[in-house]
Amino acid sequence: MRYRNTWAEINLDAIGYNIQQLKKLLPDGHKVMGVVKADGYGHGSVQVAKTALDVGVDFLMVALLEEAVKLRENGITAPILVIGRVPTSHAHVAAKHNITLTVFQAEWLKKIRNAEFEEPLSVHVEFETGMNRTGICTTEDLKTVVDEVNQLDHVQITGAYTHFATADEIESALFDQQRKRYDELLEALRELYPHPLMTHVGNSAAGIQYSDQMLHYTRFGVSIYGLYPSHDIRKLENVDLKQAFSLYSELIQVKKIKAGESVSYGATFTAEEDTWIGTVPIGYADGWRRKLQGFHVLVNGKKMPIVGRICMDVMMIKLDKEYEVGQKVTLIGEDNGAMIEMDDVAKHLDTINYEIPCMLTSRIPRVYV
Ligand SMILES: Cc1ncc(COP(=O)(O)O)c(C=O)c1O
Repeated sequence: MRYRNTWAEINLDAIGYNIQQLKKLLPDGHKVMGVVKADGYGHGSVQVAKTALDVGVDFLMVALLEEAVKLRENGITAPILVIGRVPTSHAHVAAKHNITLTVFQAEWLKKIRNAEFEEPLSVHVEFETGMNRTGICTTEDLKTVVDEVNQLDHVQITGAYTHFATADEIESALFDQQRKRYDELLEALRELYPHPLMTHVGNSAAGIQYSDQMLHYTRFGVSIYGLYPSHDIRKLENVDLKQAFSLYSELIQVKKIKAGESVSYGATFTAEEDTWIGTVPIGYADGWRRKLQGFHVLVNGKKMPIVGRICMDVMMIKLDKEYEVGQKVTLIGEDNGAMIEMDDVAKHLDTINYEIPCMLTSRIPRVYV
């Protein structure tokens, strides 16, 4: 049940379209892994996953075991990889739900030596190739991991992956080094562990820029939501993406204030002339950050500035004329031929587009179209 008149609209057709465009970049037989961590980058993981599976995606990726179990509880049976380090005490949950975990430490495996699983646990090993976040750093460490797996009947390595630090920059030397290092570690793994392995190295930026180097799967995240991973990648103009997330609200009060009157806490905005002010029911408790003061929204396709401090639940905008209470306000998305992109909001906040849908809290209902 939705009572409030502020909502995010998620266009699932756009997500399907984006996946199809991304797929076209990849060589034949190479596949898309749908990244739906962080509740599908704030779009809703279950709905996004179902859309992705409908257009042929057959592998999903999340960061947390909780996120994977949520997909299972919502009827999703496709393979799921968890990239975060899951505490060993919960490994049996992954095995029970047929969820693949990431392993990069022999110690982790030692701790589950005596565990009893309903089903064997599938793991992908992560190689540390230059990101210096998580992963197996050396062939010696890889050997200790494989030796341990070889002693365990209830654990199988089914894949090997890495993650790039600079794939969103054009022609990065670090990318080349990481890609080479991955191949070295993969070769060592194949010798130590002669079983079929699923290989995957890249995220959206890598998949868009280096599509011929992505191996079995590309882990497309931000791009399936219609957002480009960076300005540089957007400029390549080799894939057309449609932003799937829009954010709307409505005016709940419209009034004319007199010249000299101010708006909101701290009276940081003072009207220079008699001014129409509209109140919009969204605030920083919804993740609509106070720093967005000075940014704008769209009313009837026209930019209206956000004036005065943003409150916890509401904010005020300066209107060009009187509007009715109930007038639609577009905070992100298209309105009468004008558009506020996720990138515009990110630029104002001096951050990346990834952060914007993630920061908008669950107080904002997601409506699917
Ligand atoms: C290991 C890994 N793969 C893939 C992705 C997806 O990245 P993107 O959203 O840039 O496509 C992420 C995101 O952080 C990640 O950590």
